[in-house]
Amino acid sequence: MKAIVQHRYGGPETLEYADIDPPTLGPDDVLVRVRAAAVDAGVRHLMSGVPWLIRPVMGLRRPRQPVPGIDAAGVVESVGSAVTDLRPGDPVVGAVRGAYAELARARRQRWVRIPDGISFDTAAAIPTSGTTALLAVRDTGRVRPGQRVLVTGAGSGVGSYVVPLAVRAGARVTGMCRPEKADLVASLGAQEVVGYDQLTGSRDRWDVIIDIAGNTGLTGLRRLLTPRGTAVLVGGEGKGGLFAGFDRQLRALLVSPFVPEKLKPLTAVTRATDLAELLTLVQQGELRPVVDRTFGIGEVADALAYTWSGSAAGKVVITF
Ligand SMILES: NC(=O)c1ccc[n+]([C@@H]2O[C@H](COP(=O)([O-])OP(=O)(O)OC[C@H]3O[C@@H](n4cnc5c(N)ncnc54)[C@H](OP(=O)(O)O)[C@@H]3O)[C@@H](O)[C@H]2O)c1
Repeated sequence: MKAIVQHRYGGPETLEYADIDPPTLGPDDVLVRVRAAAVDAGVRHLMSGVPWLIRPVMGLRRPRQPVPGIDAAGVVESVGSAVTDLRPGDPVVGAVRGAYAELARARRQRWVRIPDGISFDTAAAIPTSGTTALLAVRDTGRVRPGQRVLVTGAGSGVGSYVVPLAVRAGARVTGMCRPEKADLVASLGAQEVVGYDQLTGSRDRWDVIIDIAGNTGLTGLRRLLTPRGTAVLVGGEGKGGLFAGFDRQLRALLVSPFVPEKLKPLTAVTRATDLAELLTLVQQGELRPVVDRTFGIGEVADALAYTWSGSAAGKVVITF
């Protein structure tokens, strides 16, 4: 099968379009012919091996999984002997490793059936970013009606889900993003949109901050919180290969017990139940994934570079 492969850690320059053997199927596996796959910051971490902390698990010298991509939507090609509730031809989506290939294999429980009326491009844009946003708003931030919520990186892949989900939870949302995404963030339901340096010295306070951009220190976040407010630390691409921003999450864990505000790092895991919940919201027209651009499989390097420049408004999708 054709696939994008990577034999050493690095950026888009390490990718090749090659013929490789298709994955073999175990009894609990489902093999899917990929029609669309998404790009996100997680792909960059796995491709670059940064933070280095992930390398003992992901491969010390090179990625253990040579095919990048972690979100795929497509059509079931074949199922393992123990899989009884999916058949060839069924449309499915999931957070699965090795998404940038003609065929992707994962355990049955990682795939969710795509409801009628949702395209492969739209479905592929949901798993990692959508479920991270759901966990941030519902479980870690515990956003309640009437609360003021500040979302940094509101125009990112994750942010484009956090804003409407927080609005849906009844919050009054302030979206912080670069100026060119202000209209998008307002269209997602944010009552107020601000730029990155606009809150320096501000006396405004928020009940919950969902920090996706990650370029504000813990003290800066605390200054913007109500006395018992909650900061959910989702993202941030800090300097230094070892931690690359993850050190801020660790510091938050250490500091939080000793301050009145709650500083909560989020480590999202994509669960099928959460993905199914988001797909239902999309089918009912209550949530609209934002797909900024689609790229062909021969343009993966361009798709990655575009997303990682921070220019993408919402999600970028690769189509097969
Ligand atoms: N904790 C978890 O489990 C988890 C799960 C998923 C993702 N994440 C993290 O969440 C962050 C967002 O992920 P994503 O997939 O949504 O990424 P993305 O779509 O590539 O968006 C990154 C966003 O960061 C903002 N940004 C602020 N300063 C930037 C800069 N100097 N350069 C580039 N972008 C900058 C931009 O938002 P604006 O345009 O709105 O300003 C940009 O859209 C990443 O750090 C990722 O690692 C964490």
